[in-house]
Amino acid sequence: MSTRKGIILAGGSGTRLYPITMGISKQLLPVYDKPMIYYPLSVLMLSGIREIAVITTPQDQDQFRRTLGDGSQWGVSFQYIEQPRPEGLAQAYLLAEEFLAGAPSAMVLGDNIFFGHGLPEQLAAADARATGGSVFGYRVADPERYGVVDFGPDSKVRRIVEKPAVAPSPYAVTGLYFLDGSAPVRARAVRPSARGELEIVDLLGSYLRDGLLSVEQMGRGYAWLDTGTHGSLLDAGNFVRTLSERQGMQVGCPEEIAFGQGWIDAAALRARAALFSKTAYGAYLLRLIPTAADDRSP
Ligand code: G1P
Repeated sequence: MSTRKGIILAGGSGTRLYPITMGISKQLLPVYDKPMIYYPLSVLMLSGIREIAVITTPQDQDQFRRTLGDGSQWGVSFQYIEQPRPEGLAQAYLLAEEFLAGAPSAMVLGDNIFFGHGLPEQLAAADARATGGSVFGYRVADPERYGVVDFGPDSKVRRIVEKPAVAPSPYAVTGLYFLDGSAPVRARAVRPSARGELEIVDLLGSYLRDGLLSVEQMGRGYAWLDTGTHGSLLDAGNFVRTLSERQGMQVGCPEEIAFGQGWIDAAALRARAALFSKTAYGAYLLRLIPTAADDRSP
């Protein structure tokens, strides 16, 4: 089991999705059949992480508690932390400093959806790097909207720049950050940017300057989906629907991961299935429970 702790950053006002997000947090909006936050949560669980801080705005915290509970249904534990004002991604490490208590962490943004063959192996490799940090570069058509990797002539990472007017490469840095226990101390040294935020790229810069940042590529066989606009949110839902209906397998199903990790037993899975008995999701959970007929051992 990983000693790494998890952070899901699910703050922000979601103004780019107004009017939908006037009454509900963006990260709780549906992506086809489940709340958006299930997908990044699944990534942390796939990484073997069981202690997770969920950072939200003060006013949205109740909605998250209702949706996610204390985590015991998935064999994990959630600690809810308020972010009073959205003052940047790096601020999460200051807010979570006590929770982390010196442990290494994996932080995922509550609106980031990852899908790809080999993801568990890539996550395990990042988890295994005890010192320094690992982030993931993914080729996109519109890198200016993200943190972007600037490669030097030796193709070493020179800098990571936030939303540059002209992108130095097509590689965006995804919202998944594996950092060692020094992240809160480093975050304290980050000064607010021109837009008044503690930028994640400045925190990553601190690792980079010390030669401690590994930028891994997520290849073209991965999907890193955007949910930042009304259109891309709908596209993400259609992607999940297309894939899960074609394969008959769920994408981003915390119960399935928890059961696979041995964190919950068949009885717990059955209880969740009963809760969702009116949905295809519930029927899927029931199918995960091995029956005597599945036991083909001699
Ligand atoms: C944030 C980060 C950016 C990163 C992106 C990934 O941007 O600041 O570096 O590439 O998340 O989703 P935001 O989505 O908050 O604009």
